[in-house]
Amino acid sequence: MSVESAAQIITTQRLIDKKQRGEKIAMLTAYDYTMARILDSVGIDVILVGDSAANVMAGHETTLPITLDQMIYHAQSVVRAVKRALVVVDLPFGSYQGNSKEALNSAIRIMKESGADAVKLEGGEEIAESVRRILCAGIPIMGHLGLMPQSINKFGTYAVRAREAEEAEKLARDARLLEELGCFAVLLEKIPAALGKKVAGELKVPVFGIGAGGGVDGQVLVAHDMLGLLQEFSPRFLRRYHNLYNEMRDAFARYVSDVRSGDFPNEKEQY
Ligand code: KIV
Repeated sequence: MSVESAAQIITTQRLIDKKQRGEKIAMLTAYDYTMARILDSVGIDVILVGDSAANVMAGHETTLPITLDQMIYHAQSVVRAVKRALVVVDLPFGSYQGNSKEALNSAIRIMKESGADAVKLEGGEEIAESVRRILCAGIPIMGHLGLMPQSINKFGTYAVRAREAEEAEKLARDARLLEELGCFAVLLEKIPAALGKKVAGELKVPVFGIGAGGGVDGQVLVAHDMLGLLQEFSPRFLRRYHNLYNEMRDAFARYVSDVRSGDFPNEKEQY
């Protein structure tokens, strides 16, 4: 690797440096090689192999069913495509909540079997012991607070979190704890913008947001959502950059019609 290309590669420290320089940081999800290659080619900073793969790739209602083996498969596909971005992988539901040894083993499997750069865990003080143990093994962690989809059965709703003072104070406390423990970043999901800004102001490590307003250091969206592939999902925080659902539907419909009419393949498209 040349010195120049090594300088381009995103590391956890470079993300912290970006925050110090006041540079905003861009993150998107990917679950497969093709998408990750396109994202890396535009210079995205972080690619998240999110457990939202359970919804987007497998059609589950929640993120709970996806397994550690399935997350590793998605992470391997993404890592094969990426030359520059930092690849962060979600520890799936059930792979770290039991105890800190189980959490460490799951994180080690992700790092060893996929070659990813870091893991992401949902929770604050409840998972502090696991966070500590994983960090002790030299595995970087991005924390995740606010709306935590793995706890949807406890929350009972995907509504905005931490509107009330008590929950907002706990969230800010948890974010500080995650930084103290050594997490390189914290992701805040679906919380009031003012709280996102306050937490980002208190932390030295980058704070990412999805539905956490413009006052945080970085943004993340699910790539399939911002491409307009899943039409039924339209929360307020989602900006659609394309209407790929309609474009793909149109292309597929034209193919079906061309096959049926005998127009495809034509003379030039055969041997
Ligand atoms: O799994 C996921 O895609 C996430 C989002 C909040 C970005 O964690």
